[in-house]
Amino acid sequence: MQVRQTLISSAGLLLCAAASVAAETPALKTVAPKGLRIGAAINRTQSSGGDPQAVAIVTREFNTVTAENDLKWERVHPGPDRFDFAPADRYVEFGQKNGMFVVGHVLLWHQQTPAWVFAGEVGKKLDRDTALGRLKTHIDSVVGRYKGRIGGWDVVNEALEEDGTLRKTPWLEAIGEDYVAKAFEFARAADPEAELYYNDYNLWKPAKRDAAIRLVQGLKAKGLRVDGIGEQAHWGIDDPPLEAIDAALAAIRASGTTPLITELDMDVLPRDPDQWGADLAKKAKIRAATNVYPDGLPPAVQERLARRYADCFALFLKHGAGRVTFWGVTDATTWLHDFPIPGRVNYPLLWDHAGREKPALAAVAEVLRNNVRR
Ligand code: XIL
Repeated sequence: MQVRQTLISSAGLLLCAAASVAAETPALKTVAPKGLRIGAAINRTQSSGGDPQAVAIVTREFNTVTAENDLKWERVHPGPDRFDFAPADRYVEFGQKNGMFVVGHVLLWHQQTPAWVFAGEVGKKLDRDTALGRLKTHIDSVVGRYKGRIGGWDVVNEALEEDGTLRKTPWLEAIGEDYVAKAFEFARAADPEAELYYNDYNLWKPAKRDAAIRLVQGLKAKGLRVDGIGEQAHWGIDDPPLEAIDAALAAIRASGTTPLITELDMDVLPRDPDQWGADLAKKAKIRAATNVYPDGLPPAVQERLARRYADCFALFLKHGAGRVTFWGVTDATTWLHDFPIPGRVNYPLLWDHAGREKPALAAVAEVLRNNVRR
C-alpha cells in the first residue's frame, strides 16, 4: 500500500505538467466507426466533477459512460423503503450534459445487493412472491426514475456458472429459473425505449458463452427485448487467447444478438491460478509473488499491452461490437489495484497513474482509425 500511495502522490505532482501537454492521439470517439460506442466506467468523484483530469479525458475521448458503482442496488436502494438517488442523479446528469449514451449498471446481481433483499420472514426462507415483489419495486423505481435518460440497462449480471448452468444465487433459489425473464419483463415495462442487456464474464469460454446465447434466445422466444450480450472482459495481458475471443464474438454475433464489451481492462500482473478463491494468508503470498511492477510499468510490457489492446480491438471491429466500455479511466483509480488480490500496483488501462497517454492508447486509436479487422 505504501508504495502505491507514494506513486499516486508523485503522480499528483505531475498532474499540472500532464494537463498542459496536448493530447497526442485523436480522440477515440472520433475514430471509432459508426455503430461502435466507446466509453468508460466512471466513479462518484468523477461524475460529480471532483477529478478534473479524468473528466477531461472522458469528455474528450468517449461518447458513452457507465456508473462503476452508483446504480448498484446497495447504493440506490439500501433499505426496503429507502432510496438514495443523489449520486446516481449526478451520474446521469454528467452523461446527459456531455451528450453521452448513458448506461445503467446494474438491475439484478447477486453481489452489491443488501442482505434485506434476500431475507425471508423470521425463521423462513425468502419466498417467490416476496422476491418478485422486491425485484419489481426496485426495477420500477430505478428504471422509471431515469426513463428516457438512461439509454441501456445491464438487466441481469452474472447469472451463469462456468459450466453454463444457472448460478446458485438467492434469486434462483427464491424465484426459480424464470427470474431472468422476470427481470427483463419488468425492465421493459418500466422503460420500453431503453436497450436491455445480459452481462457476464468469461464468455470466451465455450460452455458459458453457449449458455448465455441459449438464455438470451429463450428470452427473445418469449417476446422479451434483449439488445446485447455483454462480455465484461476483465482480461489479462496474455489471456484469454485471441482465438477464444474471436470465436466467442463470432458465436454471439451469429446468434443474432449484438456483442458488447462492457467492462474492459487488462490485468498486467502475473496471474496465479489460485488467486480467485484464495484465503487471506494465501492472498498475501500471491501479493508478494505477483506485485512485480511496484515502481512503474517497464517499456517492454507497455508495448505488449499496446499490442494486446490492438489485437482485441481488431476483433471487436471484426465482429461488429456495439460498444466497448473501459472499466475505469486512468490507472490511478482502477479497481484492479485491489482485485482479486488487495494492495498491488496495476496498469490495465490506456492512461497511466498520472493521466498521461500510454502506448496502448495510440495503438487502439490506430486500429480504430484504420478500421483494421484482423
Ligand atoms: C466493481 C467495481 O469496479 C468496484 O469498485 C467495486 O468495489 C466492486 O465492483 N463485474 C461487474 C462490476 O459487473 O460491477 C464490478 O465492478 C467488477 C466485476
